[in-house]
Amino acid sequence: AGDKLALTPPMGWSPWYVHFNRITDKLIREAADNMISSGMADVGYQYINVDDCWMNATETNPYMQDSTRVGPIRKNNGDIIPNIHFPDMLAMTQYIHSLGLKAGIYSTPGPTTCTVMTGSWNHEEQDAAQYAAWGFDFLKYDWCSYNKVVGQKPSLEQMKKPFELMGNALSHQSRDIVYNLCQYGMGNVWEWGTEVSGNSWRTGSDLGFELNSFFSVALKNAEHGEWSKPGAWNDPDYLQIGSFGSQIGTTFTLPKPSLLSGNQQYSYMSLWTLMAAPLFFSGDMTKLDEFTLNVLCNPEVIDVNLDPLGKCGSVIKKSDSCFLMVKKLVDGSTAVGLFNQGGQAAEVSVDWSELKISGKYAVRDIWRQKRLGMFKEKFTVPVPAQGVVMVKISKP
Ligand code: GLA
Repeated sequence: AGDKLALTPPMGWSPWYVHFNRITDKLIREAADNMISSGMADVGYQYINVDDCWMNATETNPYMQDSTRVGPIRKNNGDIIPNIHFPDMLAMTQYIHSLGLKAGIYSTPGPTTCTVMTGSWNHEEQDAAQYAAWGFDFLKYDWCSYNKVVGQKPSLEQMKKPFELMGNALSHQSRDIVYNLCQYGMGNVWEWGTEVSGNSWRTGSDLGFELNSFFSVALKNAEHGEWSKPGAWNDPDYLQIGSFGSQIGTTFTLPKPSLLSGNQQYSYMSLWTLMAAPLFFSGDMTKLDEFTLNVLCNPEVIDVNLDPLGKCGSVIKKSDSCFLMVKKLVDGSTAVGLFNQGGQAAEVSVDWSELKISGKYAVRDIWRQKRLGMFKEKFTVPVPAQGVVMVKISKP
């Protein structure tokens, strides 16, 4: 936590939308291996995170598929005990570090996590020290059951307090730990996330598995763009563009290939990078098809995400089906996403007056990594259904 960390949006992998309550040490290591062998690490993906379900619960609950995560929750001295699927946390992070990657962990300020596993309530300092001793570099801290502590209608102060407590606890460690606040955007967290030492914060509830909701989730996230800056990122949730699972009630299913079309995958990734969102792929690392891998790893697209200004793109023009998202870049150029949410191809254009520029400008297609030429006063392009054309507009 702190103002010198995560100066570009963190990039990595989270098991949540693919392994849920089945997560194990072995799956984490496998993901780390794949991050290297797939080439994802070469373009900047770095964090291998553990999400929920690494700890024990005191009794079975409907979120469990078996009772192997029921067991002792803390030692006599209060130290948290991982479940049997995580036999040696330090060895696991050492393995991740040996590959040149970083490791993330997950907890909640409440007594229990969202799947009713043990949380950090009343053990914040001790847990922070434990994460540091285990060698973790990232913490996702998820509200979950905290309403049990403060009731259903917490005040702003009550919302901030648990995150501040853990933020302080992290800052007492002799290890840098990037701090992700997950409380679904309550109390306008973007306004005070940095006050409690957060490096990023979820701006809404879980993206879930509604495949077409990524457009609306992104448009909501972009409304808080003014708060985005190096070390302080709006988080619209994970990248779900490959093979991932689904959830029916409390039951999580095994991963299946992406139901998103190629154009939807381009749109998804364009929105996240234009918004300088943390880029956490949450699909199956062992089933990365070549198309999705290329969508995740286009270096010019990643550059938009990692632009040092840290601006979150804003929507400057919107009709029923089309909109423009615009992001200022450090070199004085502008990245523009011309999006078409509709079911049919459409012509979309950006007028220089909308960007407050005039005259001749060079236009480069970012996805295709290709110069399109010089354009005067406007750029118009056909955009496929549910798709995007993302360009960089710069002075010649
Ligand atoms: C919440 C979070 C998710 C995930 C689950 C784990 O729903 O928003 O991202 O961490 O908890 O139970």
